[in-house]
Amino acid sequence: MPATSVIGLQWGDEAKGKVVDLLTEQHDIVVRYQGGANAGHTVVMGGQVYKLSLVPSGIFRSGVQCVVAGGTVLNPAALLEEIDGLTLRGVPVSENLMLSDRAHVIFPWHFEEDRLMNDQGADGESIGTTLRGIGPCYRDKVGRSWAIRLGDLYREGFRGRVRKIAEAKRRSLASLGTGGAPLELDADTIFEQYSAYAERLRPHVADTTAYLLDAVEAGKRILFEGAQGALLDIDHGTFPFVTSSNSSGVGIAAGAGVPGRVITKVVGILKAYCTRVGGGPLPTEQDNATGQHIRDRGNEYGTVTRRPRRCGWFDAVAARYTARLSDVDVLAVMLLDVLSELPELRICTGYDLNGRRTADFPSHVDDVRRVAPVYETLPGWRQEISHVRSFEALPPAAKNYLGRISQLVGRPVELVSVGPDREQTIFVKP
Ligand code: GDP
Ligand code: IMO
Ligand code: MG
Repeated sequence: MPATSVIGLQWGDEAKGKVVDLLTEQHDIVVRYQGGANAGHTVVMGGQVYKLSLVPSGIFRSGVQCVVAGGTVLNPAALLEEIDGLTLRGVPVSENLMLSDRAHVIFPWHFEEDRLMNDQGADGESIGTTLRGIGPCYRDKVGRSWAIRLGDLYREGFRGRVRKIAEAKRRSLASLGTGGAPLELDADTIFEQYSAYAERLRPHVADTTAYLLDAVEAGKRILFEGAQGALLDIDHGTFPFVTSSNSSGVGIAAGAGVPGRVITKVVGILKAYCTRVGGGPLPTEQDNATGQHIRDRGNEYGTVTRRPRRCGWFDAVAARYTARLSDVDVLAVMLLDVLSELPELRICTGYDLNGRRTADFPSHVDDVRRVAPVYETLPGWRQEISHVRSFEALPPAAKNYLGRISQLVGRPVELVSVGPDREQTIFVKP
């Protein structure tokens, strides 16, 4: 049975949410397997806009099981707020949402650590995290001693564990310098609060690894929803300006607990240009009128933090790297309509680095910062395309632009998006 994964191939916000919502129709289960509420996935249908952080984007289709697997980090308060928000808007969230008892839980000290350590990227440049406690929670997971998993909230030792960790965190936070009043971290208050969250979440908590392994054997169709983008991958992205999980395709097996071999199709999601929010290099960045034009047309402001996203030309070097890394079969090119008013477009086809031309994405962030992009210029189309519903009906220059992206990345384009709504989608016939 087919299992599909949807992976962002740039620096996040490639419109994965839209694609997952569309593909959910052909699947039984949708799985978030890494990241947490640092993600902001948008689904638009019939003029209604939904922003999802941890709940999988499959939640809108009835009969579909949504799973938040063990590789995620979960802030119970934020998740409950998200569930309540959906329920209020008439989206049913009950047994159709399953949460892994292996998922790690974000606590108040994680937010404080995120705030205090955010400024410690390379060369004093801030990583510019989403301040959702993601990195600190993953750090504790790997460190083990100070970690609490969702399943622990229902065990006898929970109160003692919170006391022990809160005490240790008080000391370690004091050594970081508080940058303000020291955080209270009253262990009993935190215990009461998290016990109340745990009670509300109880109906959703399960061994999702067992569930997914059974689902694979039963031939269920599974859709894996990546968060962030491959260039924010902790191991393969522009370290240290990355997130703290494997956000490229390599993270699926570890995060979901399902062998990677079950995946039969990988859909790589690309914006028709590049954006990045937070610190770190963006080789094709246009910190000028073109960048501002793209930001305005594409409403490029963070879904989670509303920070303006940095914008630039399409980077085929970066996209080819991440498409190979994630073993992408087909591409979805999103937000093509945003480029409609530009007289000409540029695509980065190579980098000049230390006097040498290369088509490889450098492994060290200093080199990524140093590259000079080599551009190819293509004609723009200067006409509105948001109403177009077939590849044939696109202006020749738009077809040419898509063709060049496909050629440079080395994968066929299967889907083109010309607006945020479900309907504003072109499925390209092979
Ligand atoms: P995700 O994190 O990858 O799911 O992406 P985000 O939701 O953070 O950002 C994508 C933004 O682009 C959202 O506001 C979408 O509603 C919007 N969007 C998606 N596809 C298109 C498109 O084809 N054209 C335009 N103009 N906007 C789009
Ligand atoms: P979606 O799933 C874009 C960025 C942050 C920061 C870096 C580390 O919506 O595509 P973190 O809070 O994860 O420690 O921040 O990663 N970042 C994202 N950028 N889209 C996202 O998610 C992101 N999640 C994290 O801006 O630069
Ligand atoms: Mg987003």
